[in-house]
Parts: sequence; structure tokens; C-alpha cells
Amino acid sequence: MNRTASIIGTGSYVPDRVMTNADLEKLVETSDEWILSRTGIRERRIAGPEMPTSEMAARAAEAAIQNAGIQAGEIDLIICATVTPDMFFPNTACFVQTKIGAVNAVCFDLSAACSGFLFGVETARQFIASGTYRTVLVIGADKLSSIVDWTDRNTCVLFGDGAGAAILQHREGSKGVMATRMGSNGALADILYIPGGGSAHPANSPTSAENPVTIRMNGRETYKHAVTAMVEASQQVLVDAGVSPSEIACFIPHQANLRIIEAIASRLDVSMERFHINLDRYGNTSAAAVAIALDEANRTGRFKRGEKILMVVFGGGLTWASTVVEW
Ligand SMILES: CC(C)(COP(=O)(O)OP(=O)(O)OC[C@H]1O[C@@H](n2cnc3c(N)ncnc32)[C@H](O)[C@@H]1OP(=O)(O)O)[C@@H](O)C(=O)NCCC(=O)NCCS
Repeated sequence: MNRTASIIGTGSYVPDRVMTNADLEKLVETSDEWILSRTGIRERRIAGPEMPTSEMAARAAEAAIQNAGIQAGEIDLIICATVTPDMFFPNTACFVQTKIGAVNAVCFDLSAACSGFLFGVETARQFIASGTYRTVLVIGADKLSSIVDWTDRNTCVLFGDGAGAAILQHREGSKGVMATRMGSNGALADILYIPGGGSAHPANSPTSAENPVTIRMNGRETYKHAVTAMVEASQQVLVDAGVSPSEIACFIPHQANLRIIEAIASRLDVSMERFHINLDRYGNTSAAAVAIALDEANRTGRFKRGEKILMVVFGGGLTWASTVVEW
């Protein structure tokens, strides 16, 4: 059996609370002008204490279920990509299962930082292709506000909270997910990571003071590798899919920095109008970023059934991926 897997519905959720660049000026030595000119971000959403990652994920999932026109009971597998699980265990997908009533689903989380959603889509495709499962819910959800050092201006201005989701199923006559390229480079783990909180430096251990449970990032290195990896993965996946950039109706990139997206557009020789961008409103929401952008692009009619889209992501690990989908 080698069935194709199509995205048959999407959903997303962002918290109501808006944090503007002006709000950040009150927290750290920064300015709206600096943040906007260096990143393109104007504001981001912040989830309150009552809203762990699973709650945002469940709301995005419910929207995707409705968009796909299926029942929660039909879902065979839930993959939740996140680096901010509610707890070490149980996995966040299990909490989502209960919240949405997907009683027949198998549930696991996937850890690939900002790349998690596309790693999840490819994992879902393989389960569908093998015939193991018929209906898969893939979620990208992160509450980065819970792991940001709010005194570090190098990182705290970049991130936000949110969740996006997609339902995958075989759809007769559609190519669906046509090709995916994924990559990783663990040798560069230390340019974007959280030193503490895990088994290497547990919270409240003798080494926890020097290893906080907050994001550490070398911005310039991350920027450089993000551009190279996303350009190369996109070029490769277009070849794999047998599709030229001009045939792509909409490019949906990871929403980390407008300048990174401009560099990708320039290297692929594609105009910026063909990229869906929402980082000005949400900042970088990690695994949720490309999933929220996909849902927005879908709901605002940026592409039609039968057209092709390209999604591309990059994150800590390092990890990256690019996927071409026939809608
Ligand atoms: C972080 C980033 C926006 C910084 O932009 P940049 O143009 O590279 O800026 P630089 O690193 O040259 O820093 C310039 C100066 O601004 C300062 N600066 C950093 N953050 C600042 C802020 N929020 N406000 C004001 N100044 C800031 C730096 O301290 C530095 O000062 P110095 O030269 O006195 O040391 C950019 O490197 C970036 O986006 N990197 C990728 C990040 C990313 O995508 N991460 C997630 C990947 S999934």
C-alpha cells in the first residue's frame, strides 16, 4: 500500500493578549524602530497562566476538525509538535485528545523546535502511505513566553505564543504531500537551545543557576544557517516534486524574521507577494508559526484545490524541512 496523503482541513488559535513593541520598551533596553527594522515584528500574542500549550493546541485542532468536516472520533493519530509541553509527561497530544474527544487516537509529541510541524506532516504522510492510519491530526503549538528570558533583549522581542493544526487523509485523485526534504545538524545545537530543565541540568540541581530554563541564542549564526538551510531544502524539494518555483501558488515560510524571508525569496527568485507573512502580528511562534500561516493562507483563499504550495521551516537542533503540497 502507498496511499497519498492530503491536507483536508486547517485550524489555528492565538491568545487574545497582544504585546506590542512599545510594551517591550518598558521591559528591556529596546525600541519599536530596532525591532521592526531588524525583524519585521510589530506585536506578538501572549498566553495567560490559564492557557498551557495543550489548550491552544486543542482550540486549533477543533478549528481544523471543523474545517475538514470530520468528527473527532475519526482521528486515528495525534502528533503534537512542541518544545513547550504542558509537562515532561504525559505528552501534550494526550491532553489534546481528551480536550477534543478524539477517543480513538494514538497520541505522541514530536520535538524538532520550530521545524516540528513539517516533521509532523511528513510523519503523518508515512503513516497514511503505509495504510497504518487513515486520519491524522498534526499540531504545531508552543507557548514560548514560558521559556523566554524577559530580561534578555536578544531573544525576548522575537517570540510569541500560538497553535496551528492540520488534518491529513488520503483524498482520491490528489497528490497531496508531494515531496519533503528534512535535515538536522546536532553539531550546532549550542547556537539555539535551552540549557537547563532537562536531565543534563535539572531544575533545582547544583548546576541549575548557570543553566536556566530559558532560550539562549546566537542570533547572527542562527540567521546565517536559517537562510542557507531553507534555501537549499526548498530547491531540493522542488526538484524532488518535479515542480518549478513559478508553479507554486503560495510560499509559506517559517515566521522568524522578515529579512530571512526576503533572503529566501531573493535566492529562489520569487517575488515577496507570493509569500504568506504574518510575523508582524505574531512574531516567531516556533512549531506553530508555519501551521498558523498555512491556516490563514487557506482561509483567505491564497490557493485553490489542485494548486501547489511550498512550506519551509528552520529551528533549533539544528533542524529544517521543506514540503511541497498539492492542495
Ligand atoms: C536576532 C537578530 C534580529 C539580530 O539582528 P542583527 O541585525 O543580526 O543584529 P546584531 O546581532 O548585529 O546586533 C546588533 C546590536 O543590537 C543589539 N540588540 C540585540 N537585541 C536588541 C534589541 N531587542 N533592541 C535593541 N538592540 C538590540 C545587540 O546587543 C547588538 O549590540 P552590540 O553591537 O552593541 O553588541 C537577527 O540576528 C536574527 O533574526 N537572527 C535569527 C534569529 C532567529 O530566527 N531565531 C529563531 C530561529 S527558529
